[in-house]
Amino acid sequence: MAPREQWSSKIGFILAAAGSAIGLGAIWKFPYMAGTNGGSIFVLLFIISTLAIGLPILLAEFVIGRMGKADAVTAFKRLAPGKRWPIVGWIGFAFGFIVLSFYSVVGGWILSYLARALIFRLDAADHGQLFESITSNPVEILLAQAVFMLLTIWIVQGGIKAGIERASRWMMPLLFIFFIVLAIRSLTLEGAMEGVRFLFVPDWSLLTGETFLIALGQAFFSLSVGVTAMMTYASYLPKGERLGQSAFSVALLNIVISILAGLVIFPAVFALGQSPSEGPGLIFIVLPAIFGQIPFGSFFMILFFILMLFATLTSSMSMLEIVVSTGIRAKYDRRRRAAWVFGALIFIIGIPSALSFGVLSTVQIFGMSIFDFADVLTSRIGMPIGALAISIFAGFILTKSQTSKELNMHPILYNLWRFLVRFAAPAAIIVIIAAWLIEIIR
Ligand code: PHE
Repeated sequence: MAPREQWSSKIGFILAAAGSAIGLGAIWKFPYMAGTNGGSIFVLLFIISTLAIGLPILLAEFVIGRMGKADAVTAFKRLAPGKRWPIVGWIGFAFGFIVLSFYSVVGGWILSYLARALIFRLDAADHGQLFESITSNPVEILLAQAVFMLLTIWIVQGGIKAGIERASRWMMPLLFIFFIVLAIRSLTLEGAMEGVRFLFVPDWSLLTGETFLIALGQAFFSLSVGVTAMMTYASYLPKGERLGQSAFSVALLNIVISILAGLVIFPAVFALGQSPSEGPGLIFIVLPAIFGQIPFGSFFMILFFILMLFATLTSSMSMLEIVVSTGIRAKYDRRRRAAWVFGALIFIIGIPSALSFGVLSTVQIFGMSIFDFADVLTSRIGMPIGALAISIFAGFILTKSQTSKELNMHPILYNLWRFLVRFAAPAAIIVIIAAWLIEIIR
């Protein structure tokens, strides 16, 4: 039987975990969610949710993953024999399919934009119209989604070290530098301050249970928490590394990139007279417009879409990795075939989401498009419930001596973590979901 792999170094693990976290969540979803949910208040709730709820649960996933040294289902079986906990692994498995099914749609959009930017310049008169015409074209969009899935499968079937780690190593720093340059350009446009105000000066009247749940879902989504992706990555980590530092770096990086993305998008949105509540098309509409204002804009835009594609692939491969590792369990020599079979299935499941911007745009589920429904199902229901179960497991099923030994942290920090994971995080998740349900019923 093929042996189980390990990351080649600690930095390899941090990069891969950060690669999983940083992706469309921070770059695409954060700005559009902030734009449709009141700006600053959402930003504030997102930061609080990330640090107080997301980060402790991320650490909980790391602990469970490294202690279990296996796919999530097997890990729960090992750590709590004879109990029902493996269900949490299966929830992650199921949501791995759903989340990648709509994520790959947006991955396809990036490919379409990239291809178009390469073949002809993207300087349309109306970028909103361009976005609509691309996303409503069934052939183009399905083809792009298929290519995106092929790339994801191709990386995952190669195994964790060769594929995942290598890809993460160089693109992250480059993306970061690029974002800073773009933010500077956006902030120096005339009328940019309006966008900064939108992002940072809170309007308290917009604080509702729903906004909080959306911000929490965004924190989970962008940290990859609640669906056992991070648990799976941590299972490939050798003993001895300090998990706390890694989790903190991932959370902090993720906040920084999200805010940077906001600082790229919103100043430009207001300066160029566009609407912040554009929805999923926001960055695809605003970015080409900003590049239009930069010397050598079309060249840099190509470079930018390439970097964005990499950021997206390092996340999508962690989603496929959940499904593959759980699907094959300990039969490591089946990785290749599993990656192809599950990848193909996910593509098929994603077809309705892809078409929901065109042919299927009139189909509604609970008043949402198919694409939005898949997203809401994952970020507002699947991930919070998975996260709740994981925090309870780490806080109450694993013993204090087990987790303190595994975490090897300063006692003050350890006790803070344990408090957050046992009481604060579960209570917050339950209250926020309840507040949302009450708002729906009223
Ligand atoms: N965190 C990823 C992003 O922001 C999305 C993701 C969700 C990845 C769940 C893995 C699991 O793009």
